[in-house]
Amino acid sequence: MKVKILLFAGIFLAVLLIAANLPAKSTVFTLIYDMFNQISIKPQEKGSMNTFVVGAVSVDGHEIEDPEDRFTRIVDDIISDTATINPAKPDAVSLADGKRKFDTFCAVCHGSTREINETGFAKTKVNELGMIAPAVITLTPFFNDGYIYQKAKYGGSVMPAMGYAVSAEERWNIVNHIRELEKQK
Ligand code: HEC
Repeated sequence: MKVKILLFAGIFLAVLLIAANLPAKSTVFTLIYDMFNQISIKPQEKGSMNTFVVGAVSVDGHEIEDPEDRFTRIVDDIISDTATINPAKPDAVSLADGKRKFDTFCAVCHGSTREINETGFAKTKVNELGMIAPAVITLTPFFNDGYIYQKAKYGGSVMPAMGYAVSAEERWNIVNHIRELEKQK
């Protein structure tokens, strides 16, 4: 009995090994190591999912906009966000959340102090590697809350938009935390 099982297992293994080494046409085993690079249209490729019909509703519930409209909408949004009064009171809950979100999503580039490196940017690892993020609390005293809020949402010419990562409430909490950070020497 034992011998039979061993024999069977041996044959099974041999078949597996042979099949795994068959040329890429093998339908079963390409799935294992070659799934992404099979012939298919990738989302970022021309003619693929990139171009939705204007007015269609995407999976996140947003209507697909004309790129021109989108640009104007974002500009309008930035202007109105900048003019918004911070609705979040800087209480302990807001500050704790703001610190957590700032440390997670902003400090990696901006640091949380005024420290700068030789090139004048914040003393962070990513700046050593070529990023050009300022020690943000040296600038924020000159900005109103709404401006920092929209910055955290849409980013800038180099800074990536972070709105996907932090909600509106969290962005206001981040602003409150930044105001605390500004108090350090
Ligand atoms: C990938 C690195 C990176 C991350 C992460 C990042 N920033 Fe920035 N940020 C930059 C760079 C680079 C600039 C300067 C150039 C620009 O505005 O795009 C900048 C500029 C800023 C400015 C100054 C804008 C101005 O007009 O001078 C503010 C305020 C700011 N960031 C806030 C934030 C906040 C808040 C977060 C977290 C939600 C954040 N940043 C996350 C890279 C980053």
